Amino acid sequence: MSEHAIRIETASEADAAIVAAFIRKMLLYTESLGGYAGNRSESGWAELAARVAEEIRSNPKHAYLLAKDGEGSAIGLGAAQIHEAHLALEPCKTLHVSTLFVDESQRKGGIGRRILEELITFGKSRGVDEIDLGVEANNPAVKLYLDAGFRIQRYRMVLGLKGN
Ligand SMILES: CC(C)(COP(=O)(O)OP(=O)(O)OC[C@H]1O[C@@H](n2cnc3c(N)ncnc32)[C@H](O)[C@@H]1OP(=O)(O)O)[C@@H](O)C(=O)NCCC(=O)NCCS
Repeated sequence: MSEHAIRIETASEADAAIVAAFIRKMLLYTESLGGYAGNRSESGWAELAARVAEEIRSNPKHAYLLAKDGEGSAIGLGAAQIHEAHLALEPCKTLHVSTLFVDESQRKGGIGRRILEELITFGKSRGVDEIDLGVEANNPAVKLYLDAGFRIQRYRMVLGLKGN
């Protein structure tokens, strides 16, 4: 499918289940790279879908953008939330990108890049100072972010305590 037949749309409440399904698929993949383990409980995912619907309905700080093909089927997701800096810090509004996912069969056609650009546009339109995200160092998506102008700023230091 041509990249141009793809539309990037704000998700509606009716899309909440597919949004949750995409988040789940992204976590399955990033967990395989050493990232956070996705929730194993079905009820947890049902609860997340309900929360997403609520955020779409009433929280303008959240962006849920779906890529849809010519038939209107969702094939990718970008999700982000605006955070204000802690009071101890100089005021700073950050858009945190929490999900970027494209169906495996549709990858490497520019859709992920387009979703990311739309998230950046969302951030600019809301007057955010910066956009951030976390990504496993071994995820090929790192190149996508570097190409888009993101820079590596800090390490996340982790001391695992389970099983020690
Ligand atoms: C990351 C992701 C959304 C990119 O979507 P996409 O539609 O394939 O992205 P695009 O076609 O717009 O851009 C591809 C760019 O992403 C990078 N990239 C991402 N995943 C890649 C992969 N598996 N292999 C090679 N390049 C990859 C490359 O830099 C590539 O640019 P290039 O073609 O100029 O080399 C998609 O690979 C995906 O869903 N991955 C699984 C979930 C994930 O890891 N999400 C990011 C979590 S931080």
